[in-house]
Amino acid sequence: MEHEFWSKRWAKGQLGFHEGRANRRLEAHIARLETKRPLRILVPLAGKAFDLRWLARRGHEVVGVEFVPEAIRAFFTEQRWLPQFDEVGGMPSSSAGGVTLLCGDIFGISPDTLGRFDVIYDRAALVALDPKARARYVALCHSMVEDGGVIFLIAFAYDQGKASGPPWSVNAEHVRALYTHARPSVSVELLSNEPSPAGSRFVSAGISQFEESAYLIAK
Ligand SMILES: C[S@@+](CC[C@H](N)C(=O)[O-])C[C@H]1O[C@@H](n2cnc3c(N)ncnc32)[C@H](O)[C@@H]1O
Repeated sequence: MEHEFWSKRWAKGQLGFHEGRANRRLEAHIARLETKRPLRILVPLAGKAFDLRWLARRGHEVVGVEFVPEAIRAFFTEQRWLPQFDEVGGMPSSSAGGVTLLCGDIFGISPDTLGRFDVIYDRAALVALDPKARARYVALCHSMVEDGGVIFLIAFAYDQGKASGPPWSVNAEHVRALYTHARPSVSVELLSNEPSPAGSRFVSAGISQFEESAYLIAK
């Protein structure tokens, strides 16, 4: 169901979420993430985000997970990188330029097959998932991060009563509850909170802008 929804969006080029440049919150807060070099960074629901390249160019090992093959092909084509094909963690992988993209469902990865990561970079991933899958996704993220590692989360909030997602609205209260529920020792820091443009579907529903927040979640 979810896969069909996203496949259609990629096939129709409905990619309003794609920024085509490094994310501004990532640029602003990168110093908080780079506690060592190189970092092992996991990018769930990666799309063809330019951030994958941006992080790899800073010397980090970047592993993205994306279940629409067209997105993965588009990423390497747009970067003009010729990928090498293999299999990693039981998923088809494409690698070039320090970026490895795994083609499969995010719920198909595990620390047993991929190892753990220093950083999870989540931009528009939590908010893209069906709200019923959130708790499972957060548990997966916790399991994929090294002790002492961090999740850098960028989430959007708006009046969910006026429109449905994706992106689904996830506010600061939701973030704190989700990430500390199973692990009370986890700390959640709100780094920034700014308005950001909402897509035309949301504007038509009376939501003129989203609230875009960046969080540092430390394990
Ligand atoms: C909102 S986009 C965000 C992409 C990227 N993070 C960015 O900032 O441009 C969500 C992406 O996740 C993919 N996706 C959705 N559910 C997924 C899942 N369960 N496993 C892997 N990829 C998924 C979609 O195909 C889509 O490319």
